[in-house]
Amino acid sequence: MSAYILGIESSCDDTSAAVIHGNEILSNVIANQDVHMKYGGVVPELASRAHQQNIIPVIDNALRNANISKKDLAAVAFTRGPGLLGSLLVGTSFTKSFSLAMDIPMVEIDHMEAHVLAHFIKEPGVEKRLPEFPFLCLTVSGGHTQIVVMRDHFDMEVIGATIDDAAGEAFDKAAKIMSLPYPGGPLIDKLAKIGNPKAFEFPKPNIPDLDFSFSGLKTSFLYFLRDRLKEDDDFIEKHKEDLCASIQATIVEILMKKLKKAVKQTGIREVAIAGGVSANSGLRKAMEDARDELGWTIHVPKLSYSTDNAAMIAVAGYYKFLKGEFASQDLAPYSRSGAR
Ligand code: KG4
Ligand code: ZN
Repeated sequence: MSAYILGIESSCDDTSAAVIHGNEILSNVIANQDVHMKYGGVVPELASRAHQQNIIPVIDNALRNANISKKDLAAVAFTRGPGLLGSLLVGTSFTKSFSLAMDIPMVEIDHMEAHVLAHFIKEPGVEKRLPEFPFLCLTVSGGHTQIVVMRDHFDMEVIGATIDDAAGEAFDKAAKIMSLPYPGGPLIDKLAKIGNPKAFEFPKPNIPDLDFSFSGLKTSFLYFLRDRLKEDDDFIEKHKEDLCASIQATIVEILMKKLKKAVKQTGIREVAIAGGVSANSGLRKAMEDARDELGWTIHVPKLSYSTDNAAMIAVAGYYKFLKGEFASQDLAPYSRSGAR
């Protein structure tokens, strides 16, 4: 069944709306919030206020770009959590009012599930092989790092997760230590392209099973630079590209080691990556290498569906809509997974 569904994402600092028809995406509009830049991180209260300013124009644009009227919508899907509560409240409250006003059902979506389901987005006129169940997904974002087994669209088992910082946080904190602006992940990626990944070596954690840890890496990076800066004030400036390339290579190696272990343990060789850090060119290349050397079938999202976007909420909404699973007007957002 094909229906028009509006997706709304407001879990962190991007306000986004998308329109999907079946699983074919018709529009995906994102308003980024520059207001956080000068603070070196997302300020929750400012994020919430910016969402309030952005949400109506962003939705208007999404409907306009899709060339449909709001009367054509069969349902509205929204991110219920995890994320910043003040930010989530804007999307949730809007959705409740919109659902009542338009007399259409609302569909609640978990942000982490949506990152994985982004692989099911189809673009008009573009042939694409969708993942086949069961598949593994390494979901790496600013707040989460997990390996999941996907047995069905909404049957997701977490088999590994970080015990401290997320992979995106490791990128952002390393960038902050080098005084690079927030968010540092994309900038490290850019500078790493002209640096030597073997220039510096950092210790890798030894964590059992399929779990991750990144806080030790951050500390050793901090102490390493503190010592070098004692000898040379300009050390970071002189070696910025090599530092970025080396820290990126270390983070990618830590991620890939566990992903390879997960493939061995489960016997599942259909492997995806998702979340903001899946935009990283080093990680994308490592996945291509694994495909070529180990025979994996890989799924790497388009850049615009890696970082936060509403297209992934809309596609997840479509699959839940098909199941007839609708949300009630009295639900509240949740800030952490499992806190529902
Ligand atoms: O999924 P996402 O957009 O938001 C969350 O749900 O957290 O992920 C944001 C994270 C940030 O930590 C950002 O630095 C990181 O993804 N990121 C990257 C790249 N693009 C975004 N990290 C490394 N390389 C990139 N190219
Ligand atoms: Zn995200």
